[in-house]
Amino acid sequence: MSDNTFHDAPSVAVAYQSGFGHTAFLAEAVAAGARSAGAAVTPIRLGDLTEEDWQTLDTADAIIFGTATYMGNVSAAFQTFAEQTGRRCQQGTWRDKVAAGFTNSGSKSGDKLNSLVSLAVFAAQHHMHWVNLGLGPGWNHSTASADELNRLGFWLGAAAATDVDANPDQVHPSDVATCEHLGRRVAEVTRQLVAGRVAAQAVTEPVTAGA
Ligand SMILES: Cc1cc2nc3c(=O)[nH]c(=O)nc-3n(C[C@H](O)[C@H](O)[C@H](O)COP(=O)(O)O)c2cc1C
Repeated sequence: MSDNTFHDAPSVAVAYQSGFGHTAFLAEAVAAGARSAGAAVTPIRLGDLTEEDWQTLDTADAIIFGTATYMGNVSAAFQTFAEQTGRRCQQGTWRDKVAAGFTNSGSKSGDKLNSLVSLAVFAAQHHMHWVNLGLGPGWNHSTASADELNRLGFWLGAAAATDVDANPDQVHPSDVATCEHLGRRVAEVTRQLVAGRVAAQAVTEPVTAGA
C-alpha cells in the first residue's frame, strides 16, 4: 500500500464474517463490483487467518469489512478479528488505507446501523479512510420498488436484509446490486487515492534534471 508506485489495479481485500452464508454471498457481490472496476480483489472469510491472509490485509490498498449483524452489532467472530488487530492498530500498519463496510441481518432494520457504525469506528481506530455508500435511498416513495438500489436506505455502508430461513443464494437482488455498487465505489476511490499520492509525491519531490 505504502510504496507509492502507481498501481493500475488497486488491491482490495474483502474481510468478512458469515455464520450461515448470507453475508458470504454478499461478500462475493462486493468483490465482483470491485473487480468490475479493475481492482485486484482477495476475499478473506474471517476465522483462523493464515499468515498469507494477514499479509494480504497488510499490503492491500483497501479493506472492505463485512459482518452479519448479531444482537444488534458486529458478530462476536468479527470482534475477535478486530481485537486480533490491536498490535497493527498501535503500529499504524493499516494507516491511510481505504475502508468501507457492509452488513446483513434478518430484519429490515434489525439495528444493523449499529454494526456499520462499529465497522467505521474500527476503521477510524486504524486511521483508515472510510468510504460511504454513495447512493441515495431507494424504496422510499409511493411508486418506488423494493428492487431499487439501496432499498433499505443506508448511507454509511451497504446494508442487506435476508430472511433468517433463506438459503444463502436467496439474498435480495437489490442488496446484491447494492453490495456490487459498494465494491465498485471503493475500487474507484482507491484508484483515485493511489494516483493522487503518486501525483502529490511528484509535486513535493520533483525529479531534478540530470539526477
Ligand atoms: C445470535 C444471532 C443474533 C442475531 N441478531 C440479529 C439482530 O440483532 N438483528 C437482526 O435483524 N437479525 C439478527 N440475527 C439474524 C441474522 O442477522 C441473519 O440470520 C443473517 O442473515 C445472518 O447472516 P449470516 O448468514 O451471514 O450469518 C441474528 C442471528 C443470530 C444467529
